[in-house]
Amino acid sequence: MDVKTAIYTRETIRRFTKGISDEKLYSLLEAGTWAPNHRKREPWRFIVINDAIGYKTLVDKYRELNRDIMYLEKMIEKNQFPTMVVTILQKNEDPVIYHEDLLAHGAMIQNIQLAAWSEHIGVVWKTQFVTPTFGAKIGLTENEVVTGFLLIGFFDENVRTNERTRTSITEKVMRIGE
Ligand SMILES: Cc1cc2nc3c(=O)[nH]c(=O)nc-3n(C[C@H](O)[C@H](O)[C@H](O)COP(=O)(O)O)c2cc1C
Repeated sequence: MDVKTAIYTRETIRRFTKGISDEKLYSLLEAGTWAPNHRKREPWRFIVINDAIGYKTLVDKYRELNRDIMYLEKMIEKNQFPTMVVTILQKNEDPVIYHEDLLAHGAMIQNIQLAAWSEHIGVVWKTQFVTPTFGAKIGLTENEVVTGFLLIGFFDENVRTNERTRTSITEKVMRIGE
C-alpha cells in the first residue's frame, strides 16, 4: 500500500478480533521511531501489554484506583484483546523542548498507525485511560507522561463503523500573498 492510500483509507478501529505478534509489534514500533524528532532526542519509550497476564495486571492496577475497567475485563473474558502499547514522553522543563517532543510523539504515533494500516492492522489511539495516578502505577517516573494508549490488532473488515469526514481544505487555509 502506498503512503497516500494508507493516509486516506486509514480509520480508527475500536473492535479487534485479536492482537498481533511481538515480532510484528516491534516492527511497527520501530517504524514509529523513524518519525522526525528535533535534535534526534528520540523522546519516547513504550510499555507493552500483549498477553492475558499483562491485561490482568493492568485490570488489578485500575481496580486499586477504583476505575471502571469493564472494557478491559470483557476483552479478557472473550480472550479477544488487542495488543496494547503505552507511549511515554519524557517531560522537559524547557517549554520549547517539551512542545517539540510532544509534537514528535504525534508523528511517531501516526507512523505506527499508518504502518499498521498498510498491513491490514487496526489501531485506536486512546488518551481516555490516561491519568496521573495511573502513570505511577505502571512505573512511570514523575518526569514522564503518557501520550497514548494504542490498542493494536486485527479486525473484521465488514464491521467497520467509523464514519470519517473532513472539512474541505479550502475552509482551513488562509493565504498571504497571491
Ligand atoms: C490525541 C488523540 C486522542 C484520542 N483519544 C481517543 C480516546 O480516548 N478514545 C477513542 O475512542 N478515540 C480516541 N482518539 C481517536 C479519534 O477519536 C479518531 O482519530 C477520530 O474519531 C477521527 O477518526 P479517524 O482516526 O478514523 O480519522 C484519539 C485521537 C487522537 C489524535
